[in-house]
Order: sequence, then structure tokens, then C-alpha cells
Amino acid sequence: MIHFGVIGYGYWGPNIVRNIRSLDGAKLMAVCDTNKNAAERARKAHPDVRVTTDPAEILRSPDIDVVAVITPVWTHFELAKAALLNGKHVFVEKPFTATSAEALELIEIAERKKLQIMVDHTFLFTGAVKKIQQLIDDGTLGKLFYYDSTRVNLGLFQHDVNVLWDLAPHDLSIVDHLIGQRAEAVLATGEAHFNGLTDVAYLTVYYPDNVIAHVNVNWLSPVKVRTTLIGGERKMLVWNDLEADEKIKVYDRGVQMNSREGVYDLLVSYRSGDMWAPKIENTEALKAELSYYVHCIDQNETPFNDGMAGLRVVRMLEAAEQSLKHKGEAVFA
Ligand SMILES: NC(=O)c1ccc[n+]([C@@H]2O[C@H](COP(=O)([O-])OP(=O)(O)OC[C@H]3O[C@@H](n4cnc5c(N)ncnc54)[C@H](O)[C@@H]3O)[C@@H](O)[C@H]2O)c1
Repeated sequence: MIHFGVIGYGYWGPNIVRNIRSLDGAKLMAVCDTNKNAAERARKAHPDVRVTTDPAEILRSPDIDVVAVITPVWTHFELAKAALLNGKHVFVEKPFTATSAEALELIEIAERKKLQIMVDHTFLFTGAVKKIQQLIDDGTLGKLFYYDSTRVNLGLFQHDVNVLWDLAPHDLSIVDHLIGQRAEAVLATGEAHFNGLTDVAYLTVYYPDNVIAHVNVNWLSPVKVRTTLIGGERKMLVWNDLEADEKIKVYDRGVQMNSREGVYDLLVSYRSGDMWAPKIENTEALKAELSYYVHCIDQNETPFNDGMAGLRVVRMLEAAEQSLKHKGEAVFA
């Protein structure tokens, strides 16, 4: 049995708490939030669980094996570092840390103390991303051309991070996982309209072999959109995450170009075949992710969404931040 303590019971924390409680191999020992109202909410929802406003009670508790850090980004490093130094595994929210130097330090401590870091890259555990991975791995999509995501809605404005650090980690962790290659260069443009934090941003990431990723993140959109296009040489797909049933539609569409001997013009032909919606596994991503973490700790296995995966995303965000300051200049990651 793996014993969890959760720090942070704001918007996302209750989902972590609920899912830990639903796992067979895990037990929730305590919840902490420095905010009295949040702590009170935790107490009401889970009267049988110890609730505290002092993080040290969780960080030092001898009966806790894993600390889940579900607090704002700027607090991740201090809390995760203290947990690791006290011999506890850590489950840290995305983005892993506020800087790559912090991420490297946490990875080094975890390695030295033989502890497992998992970064909450929730989307990697959704049925949709698992299906896309399968369509890439089994060759259905063919050679990848591009990943193009629109992740926009009205708010929620954050106080400590801009829209890139808030929303882009989802897509950056997905492309990192699906493409499996290091980014070559990152370009970002954007604007801030209210509190100095960028609220609209466009991010482009260049990968080897002519693969390109584009992510549009925006807190000022009148409607919520979660749509991603993925283009491959053999098939293309549209993933609409707001769709209840047919989240992914695969299109047998594409382009072929031939030049015949003696004919100087390119002969372009378009293929427009069938469309189908593959069946997608319908389990809660967080439950699958936390269950995998329990398995990793039990078996002493390194999760694929480990500290290094978190670091790669933070490095891309840092490169994007630098590019943003120079109005879209390419930053080589
Ligand atoms: N994986 C996902 O899909 C997903 C979704 C939403 C948020 N998140 C991430 O979860 C984290 C928290 O986001 P949120 O939206 O829940 O924020 P939030 O502000 O709603 O909640 C954070 C809570 O942490 C508490 N807190 C702050 N510092 C603390 C400390 N030192 N000790 C104990 N409690 C402390 C605050 O009082 C607050 O209640 C962020 O990193 C965010 O990026 C991830």
C-alpha cells in the first residue's frame, strides 16, 4: 500500500484527492492547504482524512511515502525539494517547475535518494492521446507532417503565470510524447492586455525531419475550443476534445505529387477517401496516471512522465518565453 499526502486543495487538488481515494493500492493519509477556506472544504468533503494548514506536517510525516504537490507553479520547487529531502516520492503538477535549473536540482536529488518523480502530464493518459499514439506507432498516419492545436477559452486568468505556462504545457507534453524527438527551435509571439501577463500566444516548435508543431493558447476567447489537427503522409486526423463520443476523426485524405519525365509541371493529385471515428477508451486519465505511478513506485520503475519529461517541457517554455520577448525570434532549444 502506497501512502499519499496531498498539498494544495484549490481547483485541481480535489481531483487528485478523489482519484487517490479510488485506487486499490493507495491510501490518502493527509491533505494540506495553507488557505483556511480550502482546508475547510477538504475537511467537509473528506471528514475521515487528516487535514492541516501546515505543509510541514505532510512533508515530515513518517507515515507518508508520496507527496502530491498541487499548488501554484512558483511553489512546486520548494515543496518538492523538501519532500524529496525527507525521503518521499513526489507527484508534481504541470508545469514541473518555474525554471529548468530548479527541475535539474529536483532530478538530481531524486536520483541520489533513489526516489521517483512523476510530473502530472494528464493528457498522456487520456484515451484520445493513447489512440493517437497507436495510430502513429502502427503506421496508420504515416510519416508525421504537423501537429496544430487550438486551446482557447475565456480565463481563468492566473496571477503567477502567463497563458503559455498555463495552457501550453498540455500540448508540449503531448508532442514531446508523440514525436519522441528533441525540439530544434521554438518561436513564440503573443500579447498582454491586462495585468502584464501574456494572455494570447502563438507557439511554433520545429522538430527534426520537417515535423512542425503549432499551439494557439488564449484566455480571451469568447468560446472554449480544444481542437487539434494532426497531419500525416497517409492519413490526417481531427481531435476535438470537447466532443463526447467521436473525439477523433481519421480522414483518408492527402496529397500526392509526381513529376513525369518530359513534363516540367508538378502533377498534383488529391486523395479524398473515407472518414472514421475510432473507438476510444473511456477511463479517467488522472486515475490511470495515479495507478501507473503506484505501479512504478511498487516496482521501482521510472515513469515515462518523469522529471526529465517535466524538464523538457520547462525548457521549451523557457525558450518560448525568450522568443516572446523578441517578438518571435527563433530560440534554439
Ligand atoms: N493537469 C491538469 O490538467 C491541471 C489542471 C489545472 C491545474 N493544474 C496545475 O495544478 C496546480 C494548481 O493549480 P490550481 O488551478 O488548482 O490552483 P489554485 O490556485 O486553484 O489552487 C492552489 C491551492 O494551493 C494552495 N497553496 C499555495 N501555496 C501553498 C503551500 N505552500 N502549501 C499548501 N498549500 C498551498 C492555495 O491556497 C490554493 O488553495 C498548478 O500547477 C496548475 O498548473 C493542472
